[in-house]
Amino acid sequence: MGEGQPLKVAVLGCGVVGSEVVRLLTTQSGDLAARVGRPLELAGVAVRRLDAPRDVEVPEGLLTTDAAGLVARDDVDLVVEVIGGLEPARGLILSAIEHGASVVTANKALLAEDGPTLYEAAEKAGVDLYYEAAVAGAIPIVRPLRESLAGDRVTRVLGIMNGTTNYILDKMDSSGAGFADALAEAQDLGYAEADPTADVEGFDAAAKAAIVASLAFHSRVTANDVHREGITDVTAADVRSAEEMGCVVKLLAICELRDGVEGEPGGEAVSVRVHPAMIPRTHPLAGVREAYNAVFVESEAAGQLMFYGPGAGGAPTASAVLGDLVTVARHQVLGARGAGESSYAERAVLPMGEARTRYHVALDVDDRAGVLATVAQVFAEHGVSIQTVKQEGRDDDAQLVVVSHWATDAQLSATVSQLADLDIVREVTSVMRVEGGEE
Ligand code: HSE
Repeated sequence: MGEGQPLKVAVLGCGVVGSEVVRLLTTQSGDLAARVGRPLELAGVAVRRLDAPRDVEVPEGLLTTDAAGLVARDDVDLVVEVIGGLEPARGLILSAIEHGASVVTANKALLAEDGPTLYEAAEKAGVDLYYEAAVAGAIPIVRPLRESLAGDRVTRVLGIMNGTTNYILDKMDSSGAGFADALAEAQDLGYAEADPTADVEGFDAAAKAAIVASLAFHSRVTANDVHREGITDVTAADVRSAEEMGCVVKLLAICELRDGVEGEPGGEAVSVRVHPAMIPRTHPLAGVREAYNAVFVESEAAGQLMFYGPGAGGAPTASAVLGDLVTVARHQVLGARGAGESSYAERAVLPMGEARTRYHVALDVDDRAGVLATVAQVFAEHGVSIQTVKQEGRDDDAQLVVVSHWATDAQLSATVSQLADLDIVREVTSVMRVEGGEE
């Protein structure tokens, strides 16, 4: 088993993930050969600096700074791209594909921005493009959506797809800390980067949401199509308010198939958004703690599925990369190809205003006759039905907490804008969407 001419693997990048990929390729070579049907041989590892400290010993003579030369080599069969970012990754992947190599990448930003270009190049060249590691690290979610659920109709995906923000929100929930303190702790422990923008502003989760929505709904969704809000404005008061409602605050990636949409072919369109939201503590995603990720999938035949695990880190991400590598290598041995892009449904992406959700709104108001009626009237004027109202006295003021029934985001945000302009409203102290239920 696993004999014959080796398949040659080029690895682009030897950072946290790349060094684990190289380590697994060398230490598990026997098992990998048996699983592929031929040995996998490291052809080269492209790095920016030859003398940079790294966590793995790369075999003599295999390190190179000439990534372009490495991917263009005739003897390279498989290319693993773990550099990240748009360029030079895009050019290197396209060159690898043009030279006939199958590609395994963890590059969510590139796939979310320009996935169709990569898919088209792979299709033309007759090679594989696999990217399990681009979404939620070690968690198998790309393969389930692309293959296991290919016979089903996925209707919704709710995901905690960013570990840094989940760690911060979990800390805020368990300790009552504010955002800044929880972020500082996440940075001290190495969960958050020194520049945490990509995580805390939701860019990372939005890229993953675009990839997941494209797969789930067989349509092209790019990062630009995803409505994105980060967690920097989430306050300790929001988290406490959620707790009082039996909820927890999470940064959710929400991908929904919407039917009955006027003016769309077949009446269907998709809604894709990333924002903080309250979800009931009884929802399976509420129990996802610390820096873990989880993806909750709802489909017509399978029902509800949840995929859970580490969404980042060298070894977990390398596990997903190696899984893809074995698959695409096996395809080469068999002279086969795996699934390509499936965007036949061509569903449009709805603007955020048309997303349907519920709102939790906390207001500091004057405590006098007619205030509650006036607030309720504003909700009614925008066609938003109120589910619950809670009032608490505060010296001469009162705090009102209103939770709405389902409405469009446009109706809800117009309601909040009008409330904020009322003389009787001192301040709108918290506005957060409430997710995880059924309309
Ligand atoms: N920075 C990401 C996270 C991992 O915190 O989950 C890579 O996408």
